[in-house]
Amino acid sequence: MKSVASAPAKIILFGEHFVVHGTKAILAAIDKRVTVTSSFTENKTIKINSQLGTLEVPMSSSHEEVKSELRPFVYLANKMINSHQDVNGLEITVNSDIPIGVGLGSSSACCVAATASISGLFNELSRKEIINLSIEAEKTIFPDTSGADCTVCTYGGKIVYPSIEKIGNTFDLNLLIANSMIPHSTKSSVEKVNKFKENDEERFSQLCELENGLIDEVIYAIKANDVPTGFENTDRSLHNRLQEEEKDGREHFLGKKMSENQKYLEEIQVSNDTLRDMISSLSEISLGSKITGAGDGGCIIALIKDENMDKVPELLGKGKECFSVKIDTKGVVWETEK
Ligand code: MEV
Repeated sequence: MKSVASAPAKIILFGEHFVVHGTKAILAAIDKRVTVTSSFTENKTIKINSQLGTLEVPMSSSHEEVKSELRPFVYLANKMINSHQDVNGLEITVNSDIPIGVGLGSSSACCVAATASISGLFNELSRKEIINLSIEAEKTIFPDTSGADCTVCTYGGKIVYPSIEKIGNTFDLNLLIANSMIPHSTKSSVEKVNKFKENDEERFSQLCELENGLIDEVIYAIKANDVPTGFENTDRSLHNRLQEEEKDGREHFLGKKMSENQKYLEEIQVSNDTLRDMISSLSEISLGSKITGAGDGGCIIALIKDENMDKVPELLGKGKECFSVKIDTKGVVWETEK
């Protein structure tokens, strides 16, 4: 029996770091995926094959003994094997096209896909149960996680966290991801922000309020995309033109809000010279841009009009990677083969 599950990468459109301290965030799942395949073996071990290497530990091993990024897999395997005494061994294989350690949610997508894949061998879980268990697994390597990344990888689409409201599925943003190619540690960046908060509680709480206010405005702007009632059956071309104009105005607004959000991220010191240079090199064509994810390296996102997309590689210069984003609407998917 084989159980296969895959989950998408993610970007944070607004609210990273502040979300760890209770603000809202807006996230989107994107079209890069990790696939996890699980099957029973007779080897009395838990074996994990991945780009990070192969790990094989006795069935009785605790995840705490595993000193590596593969710990969440051992945690999940233990958790599910413990309630099914007749299992002799488990093999888990991870295949990913999500770059690791650059803010695109690789570890959360792995936790979500692994939860769905391993549980598929036993009892299928609901999406809510997958989120809860994958967050528990992620906490074995990153105890402070807000849970936002695992949530969007599970549901797909664009969501508001923590309400898990899906928004803006009726239009696409022309979003570009540019990778600084500097790996970062989310755990260390989050610890750095905790220190900033400890040193200046008052300013940090003002910034959280500003971030929440900004996100409320963005939610309103994204939702305003709904087709106005009464237009559906009248003049299509007028309707389309109005939609176009609205989209244009909304994109400018969202771009402005992204740049405003970046100022807050600069203030809490999760940016660096490379990220600032990337943002400024795109400023002549972007409507707005910001870090996505933990910062201190990793990726930026920029809102760029279609007609300017081909200018991006030259403006960014050598040694950076860039691609345009398509939103994934499926979230985690899984199937079991007998
Ligand atoms: C990392 O993708 C996003 C952070 O806000 C951490 C978290 O929400 O768990 C930095």
